[in-house]
Amino acid sequence: MKPLVILALALALSLCPTLTKPLSAAGGDIALPPPGKTGGMPLMEALSKRKSYRELRPETLTLQQISDILWAAFGVNREDGKRTIPSSHGNNELAVYAVLSSGVYLYDAPGNKLVKVLDGDRSASFRGAPLTLLYAAPANGPVGGFHAGSAYQNVALYCASSGLANLVATSGVAALKDELKPENGWAVLVVHSIGHPAGKDF
Ligand SMILES: Cc1cc2nc3c(=O)[nH]c(=O)nc-3n(C[C@H](O)[C@H](O)[C@H](O)COP(=O)(O)O)c2cc1C
Repeated sequence: MKPLVILALALALSLCPTLTKPLSAAGGDIALPPPGKTGGMPLMEALSKRKSYRELRPETLTLQQISDILWAAFGVNREDGKRTIPSSHGNNELAVYAVLSSGVYLYDAPGNKLVKVLDGDRSASFRGAPLTLLYAAPANGPVGGFHAGSAYQNVALYCASSGLANLVATSGVAALKDELKPENGWAVLVVHSIGHPAGKDF
């Protein structure tokens, strides 16, 4: 193959993150596809369907669903960089980690990507869910819990709208405390497991 053709192919692949960084790939950050910002169920229907599920099937979610979920949780929704949730004085005091079978990642909202912080599959610590979000904030601050609550409710409504199951829980907040090192004084306040409904909820 001619060098020019190889160069063109390499460039095309580098511009296509879903091909070059599949979810199952070991190591590395995950570039997310742009979140889908249209469609879904009417809000009042989604509110009427919102509920907790304690049994989740382990099948993976698509990268598009993962992108949409993270955007709902804490994504940038305006040109000035502000987010899908309100925050006290606009301080954005919240960090959202995503637990996937390929590792644990920190959501970089402006970059629309997941930055790997831990290798290995930790999903067994979180009901075997294919995606668990960990909401971290200053442990003793007055507003982190509010920010986490706004984020998990956005995600819960996305799940209701998309037929996905989710459970918000305080059990499990310490599961990764010796490995995850959030900023000084920050801690995981609440965990949010997301997947396909199973068992009696199905
Ligand atoms: C902050 C918070 C912590 C929760 N912690 C747990 C938990 O540790 N384990 C659990 O099974 N459910 C937990 N839940 C889910 C609640 O039990 C559930 O929301 C409640 O039973 C009402 O059910 P519904 O969400 O289906 O309306 C938690 C919910 C919230 C908002």
